[in-house]
Amino acid sequence: MELPRIGMGTFGSDRYDEKTVANAVKFALEAGYRLFDCASVYGNEAEIGEVFARAFASGTVKREDLIVMSKVWNDMHGAGKVTESCLKSIEDLRVGYLDVYFLHWPFPNYHAKGCDVTSRNADSRPFFVEDFMAVWREMESLKIKGYVKEIAMSNMTVAKMKAVLPLCKIKPYAHEMELHPTFSQKELYDLCVREGIKIIGYCPLGSPNRPERDRTAQDIADTESAVIKDIAGKYGCHPAEICLAWAIRKGHTPIPFASKERNILNNFTVGDRIRLTDEEMAAIEGADADNRLIKGQVFLWKGSDDWRDLWDLDGKIADWRFVNDKWIKKEN
Ligand SMILES: NC(=O)c1ccc[n+]([C@@H]2O[C@H](COP(=O)([O-])OP(=O)(O)OC[C@H]3O[C@@H](n4cnc5c(N)ncnc54)[C@H](OP(=O)(O)O)[C@@H]3O)[C@@H](O)[C@H]2O)c1
Repeated sequence: MELPRIGMGTFGSDRYDEKTVANAVKFALEAGYRLFDCASVYGNEAEIGEVFARAFASGTVKREDLIVMSKVWNDMHGAGKVTESCLKSIEDLRVGYLDVYFLHWPFPNYHAKGCDVTSRNADSRPFFVEDFMAVWREMESLKIKGYVKEIAMSNMTVAKMKAVLPLCKIKPYAHEMELHPTFSQKELYDLCVREGIKIIGYCPLGSPNRPERDRTAQDIADTESAVIKDIAGKYGCHPAEICLAWAIRKGHTPIPFASKERNILNNFTVGDRIRLTDEEMAAIEGADADNRLIKGQVFLWKGSDDWRDLWDLDGKIADWRFVNDKWIKKEN
């Protein structure tokens, strides 16, 4: 499957309602976008499905010319649930099959829609290879049964990838990861490239309208970065377009969301209008600040209050044990 150089995200960030996102998808489809990144948890697949169904019926686009991706949410990791969720997304999106189906997060921890950063789920648990592989086996069966063309992972780390890849009967086709100039995740990026795993970059503009729970005082806005603004000045464009030009030049597929028609159009044509030079790419690389925006605090389990526990920052998967009603990290 050939991925287009840019796709469109569909997460409403708890701000854009279902209708707004569906209208944006309709406009994008007519403007020429062919890849749409959906997910059951975004709560808008039925409305987007309406748009797809009308586009197929009117001949705006053929089903086989679209790449439609969706994801199993964290509350559907149980046996049989992954299949149920996949079939529901196919039905809601009215597509007959999915091109790529993602395991949205590598653990079964979920939060309520619109929750704040302090929200915790008592059932949340750390990552375990065995849990993950049980879900992945069911993901594999979806491809074998032909419900989906490809299966993929999201929000992994280098340590988690290294732990699960040798166990996969079907390797992930793609990895969807947070990627923007101030957060380039170089080691994980290079690992995916080495393994032949396609890279989909989420929050490619630094998600300026992300939910409140995903904001901290330390966050850097990519579009305010001096390097990005300087290059945007040279091209006479919005800094957001430089973030996309950077992604396209690197060779992964960014999936920006936009509700404004002007932004939807500008994003789609960035690849035709802006080709960054080697010097500009090097300057942007210098702006990397390990600026993770989607930290995932709401996925933490009893016994951890540090979002870094989700991301294996020392390159290892910590050994967590459940003792006296809470998780305890075994220090090496
Ligand atoms: N796998 C995962 O766990 C995961 C996590 C987060 C996101 N995602 C996916 O990644 C997609 C993108 O992430 P995101 O929506 O959080 O953030 P984003 O794409 O980085 O930013 C979207 C915001 O940028 C604004 N924007 C878009 N184009 C612009 C332009 N040319 N100039 C100025 N502003 C512009 C939009 O504003 P307007 O609405 O005003 O146009 C929109 O609010 C999501 O929609 C979702 O599909 C996946």
